Amino acid sequence: MSSPLTFQPVLDRIAAEIEQTPGRGRPADYIPALAACDPRSFGMAVAELDGTVYGVGDWRQPFSTQSITKVFTLALDLAHEADELWEHVGREPSGNPFNSLVQLEYENGIPRNPFINAGALVVTDRLHTQTGDAAGTLLDFLRAESGNEHLAINEDVAASESAHGDRNAALGHFMASYGNIGNPVPALLDAYFRQCSVEASCADLALATGFLARHGIRADGSRLLTMSQAKEVNAVMLTCGTYDAAGEFAYRVGLPGKSGVGGGIIAVVPGRCTVCVWSPGLDGHGNSVAGVAALDRFTTITGLSVF
Ligand code: DON
Repeated sequence: MSSPLTFQPVLDRIAAEIEQTPGRGRPADYIPALAACDPRSFGMAVAELDGTVYGVGDWRQPFSTQSITKVFTLALDLAHEADELWEHVGREPSGNPFNSLVQLEYENGIPRNPFINAGALVVTDRLHTQTGDAAGTLLDFLRAESGNEHLAINEDVAASESAHGDRNAALGHFMASYGNIGNPVPALLDAYFRQCSVEASCADLALATGFLARHGIRADGSRLLTMSQAKEVNAVMLTCGTYDAAGEFAYRVGLPGKSGVGGGIIAVVPGRCTVCVWSPGLDGHGNSVAGVAALDRFTTITGLSVF
């Protein structure tokens, strides 16, 4: 596809600006594998609808995808069971941190949305029931969409997540007490921690997110989601993808986006392209400082946003 807007100079300009930015936040430190990341790392990739990819900096460097995977498990579960899912998880921003427990008791074990940890556990649980292997299904999908057969789960990170997983275990058991979890909680947690521990680069993730810019169509031309479902996933990303900073993210960036504590953020320009940015230093909400700044610059320079 020929493009009137050339992304490479835009990315080069953003990387040069980010290089001059002093504050980069702090890498997540709850497990050693994430704490060891260099906060000065920065990569960014843009994928067009036809799979053409542009990149800058560390855009081919694999990193821990973490909560970014919640977008893909949501899409895969919707593809399997459609609206049935929405009887078990809501679609409202929570206004609380991603790992918060407070709303669950008031709201009878139904999490506010699929991107806070409680909601992501429900989605993974249901995908695990549908497929028998939620993390494996996710990995197969990411490999197919990115064209990168080498994508893998970092089992050391998964083990480390599990060793520090008391809060997610509490969420899982609490929701199970309301009948909102179908698998044994230890099996669900294993699937969830392995899902979070998939490693991929900005290039891989920009490509893998393409189906959301193509209104539900996969890289091979087959349909994963209906147009309406793709719109729904994008809408929930916009309103809930960056947790209790989703309002600020919408204000600054103006795109559906999803962050992870590994420092990655994916964003979608429906009908046009996808973006993935990575820099491991986080703000207090768990979102990449340089990543949000870079996406802010991207939409400002290009004028591409949903508004
Ligand atoms: O559930 C957890 O604690 C992590 N494995 C994933 C959290 C995450 O990435 C939240 N996003 N900012």
